[in-house]
Amino acid sequence: MGGVIYQIYPRSFADSNGDGIGDLPGIRAQLDHLAWLGVDVIWSSPTFPSPNVDWGYDVADYYGVHPDFGTLDDLDALIAEAKSKHIEVWLDLVPNHSSDRHRWFAEHPEYYVWAKGRPNDWRSVFTGKTAWRLDKRFDRRYLHQFAPEQPDLDWWADAVRDEFDRILRFWFDRRVSGFRIDVAHGLIKDKLLRDGVRYMRERPEVHEIYARWQQITLEYHPKPTLMGETYVSLDKLPAYYRYLDLAQNFDFCRADFELDELRPIVEQTMRDVPADREPIWFGSNHDHSRMATRWGKGDERRHRAALFLVLTLPGYAILYQGDEIALEDGKVPRRRITDLARPPRDPERTPLPWTRDGEEWRDPWLPLTNTSRNVADQKDDPSSTLHYTRLLIEQRKQFADESYETLPSAKGVWAYRRGDRTCVVNMTDTSATHEGRTLQPWQGLIL
Ligand code: NOJ
Ligand code: CA
Repeated sequence: MGGVIYQIYPRSFADSNGDGIGDLPGIRAQLDHLAWLGVDVIWSSPTFPSPNVDWGYDVADYYGVHPDFGTLDDLDALIAEAKSKHIEVWLDLVPNHSSDRHRWFAEHPEYYVWAKGRPNDWRSVFTGKTAWRLDKRFDRRYLHQFAPEQPDLDWWADAVRDEFDRILRFWFDRRVSGFRIDVAHGLIKDKLLRDGVRYMRERPEVHEIYARWQQITLEYHPKPTLMGETYVSLDKLPAYYRYLDLAQNFDFCRADFELDELRPIVEQTMRDVPADREPIWFGSNHDHSRMATRWGKGDERRHRAALFLVLTLPGYAILYQGDEIALEDGKVPRRRITDLARPPRDPERTPLPWTRDGEEWRDPWLPLTNTSRNVADQKDDPSSTLHYTRLLIEQRKQFADESYETLPSAKGVWAYRRGDRTCVVNMTDTSATHEGRTLQPWQGLIL
């Protein structure tokens, strides 16, 4: 049960050919390292052909590989070699919208959402302005929840559903073991396009789509996993577990790193996630300030306390590349900003430093600003965060199948039972005790 998912942001993970862009052969070359770390799954952000208005989240071809990353053969080779090392590969499916350069947008305008008469009041997540853009070809407006170059697909159209059935089977046939589903709460829009954001997202009919996809996964052995990017409040999360295997918990990710804030979220999650499903925890991804910065505030002890929680709570854990070395957000000067969102997400997307001299990243697409926390140095140092992460991944296996039970503890200390083990973490700046054991500030212990 459970597992550790390692999220790769492929442009910034490992570059095999010196063009400053991470790629699939680069990932493949690090599989031994990832196996050493002990991860079960790698999930890569999109590797599909894309004009990169939103760095891969504007897909121009759901069946291909962006030339920056390599070829379909490179992806097949990565999947096969990962499998031989007992690591699954999950891809990132973007079904809410395509790129406006996808051939569908030219050949099948009926696949997209068009305003009926007066456009409603929906706004784009990225621009904050109207989410409707005039298409001069038809003198009609199409919906874009995100950038104007990301037209929303119309999931009421049977043909769209059929297209994605084919896409899923294509990748499952290629032995992809799962998908992270982008904007999983947003696919279905109100049929009448009523005013109000509640008609743009979180429509109940979205679950019918996942019921259908779950049937498709059941055609395969082992069954591939479906993980939703479910950007909803915690009370709405259980509904997504009906047909998705995993629903990402953003209330946990976005909470302040404080016991009184995190523990109620964890307890509610443990109560509400259906008994036959598993929760999932993470503190970083490519859209949020890295947890070493946001939660750790640069203090590696705080960051380790965060890793302790993510890796010892029941269910799945996601590490975003760099979490394992306490990598902080990069400093990206204004002239190097590449992201369209505000605030820009470039700081959490800077390259992963493999060495102190950064030789492996010549002229990277985003600056490599600080290499003081890097993989090579930490691999040589048994007291490093990298080794700490590896040890936690090893230790979590001892109680992977056990339930969670909050235990009484001193103020600022969080203790929970996992079977016959107790996990205890001091979430304060001063030392504390638990059952006669002294805990240094931010120290976690498995007893
Ligand atoms: C969520 C993705 O994680 C983010 O990077 C992207 O910009 C939006 N969805 C739109 O696809
Ligand atoms: Ca490259």
